[in-house]
Amino acid sequence: MLEKIEQIQAEIDNFRSALREEIEQFRVKHLSKKGTIAALFDDFKNVPVERKKAVGQALNDLKTKALERVNELKERAGATTTTAPRLDMTLPGDPLTLGSRHPLSLVKNEILAIFTRMGFSISEGPEIEDDWHNFSALNFPEEHPARDMQDTFFIRRSPDIVLHTHTSSTQVRDMETHPLPIRLVTPGRVFRNEAISARAHCIFHQVEALYIDKDVSFADLRQTLDYFAKEFFGANTRVRLRPSFFPFTEPSAEMDVSCSLCGGRGCNVCKGTGWLEIMGCGMVDPNVLELNGIDKDVYTGFALGMGIERVAMLRYGIRDLRLFFENDVRFLEQFAAAGIC
Ligand code: DAH
Repeated sequence: MLEKIEQIQAEIDNFRSALREEIEQFRVKHLSKKGTIAALFDDFKNVPVERKKAVGQALNDLKTKALERVNELKERAGATTTTAPRLDMTLPGDPLTLGSRHPLSLVKNEILAIFTRMGFSISEGPEIEDDWHNFSALNFPEEHPARDMQDTFFIRRSPDIVLHTHTSSTQVRDMETHPLPIRLVTPGRVFRNEAISARAHCIFHQVEALYIDKDVSFADLRQTLDYFAKEFFGANTRVRLRPSFFPFTEPSAEMDVSCSLCGGRGCNVCKGTGWLEIMGCGMVDPNVLELNGIDKDVYTGFALGMGIERVAMLRYGIRDLRLFFENDVRFLEQFAAAGIC
């Protein structure tokens, strides 16, 4: 009997496991009602009286040590198990948090919807462009300082390939491929070699519109701008144009809207002027029509381009442009109520 006790004791001392399942098997083998220790207790009645005291003590010791060992191993094993946790169907389900559109997408979609209501179709162009589409075909002469208006990212292996600096490059692709008349609106992501700050980023978004037909006049441009401004910023919005310069439009203008926050009285967003600069625009330069194979004596057109970030900042009162790109959910979830359109 003592020999058997020693044997089981050795087995208990040598047993190592971090798996709850194995530890449980070990417990059943030695400590259950039909286990080895219970069997020894059964045999105890056959032990001669004079040895009962010594064997009984050894047997009790064995049981205590076995229990201690099992408890110690179970505690260390924690939740480690080979079997999958049981599925408790009564637990409440994990909440399904619904995503929402990014504020830039919301604003872009709203701008596109306004232009499509005016009869514009949506087109898109590549982000990697050649010099011709980004500059030359838009009347940026070679080596002309106008090219410095937009600090460009060049693709190193070819100085002719750039990340497009504006969606105006798509105008060229549209003129190449689209039959006349053209009435297109183009969203896109653009790239400029700019230091990142609260007001500027090296990646941002634009929407461009191009309308080319017979007899398109500056009055058509003005009317389009007016309609857009009232639809987007509200019915009381006023529009003003200031002369400007872009190589691809002549005449060119900068469009301002009356400040939607102070109604034109002057606040810190419009820097006390009552006006907010929204976009560049103008009549397509006849040189651009010529460069793109369109008869400048028959056709005229207007073009306009605006930054989506700028418009979104004004719409939502956002002061730092970098927030759009950090994708902090605490920022993004504030636009969930703005809808999913
Ligand atoms: N491409 C100009 C820019 O990125 C914006 C622009 C101005 C677009 C005038 C136009 C336009 O189509 O007519 O600053």
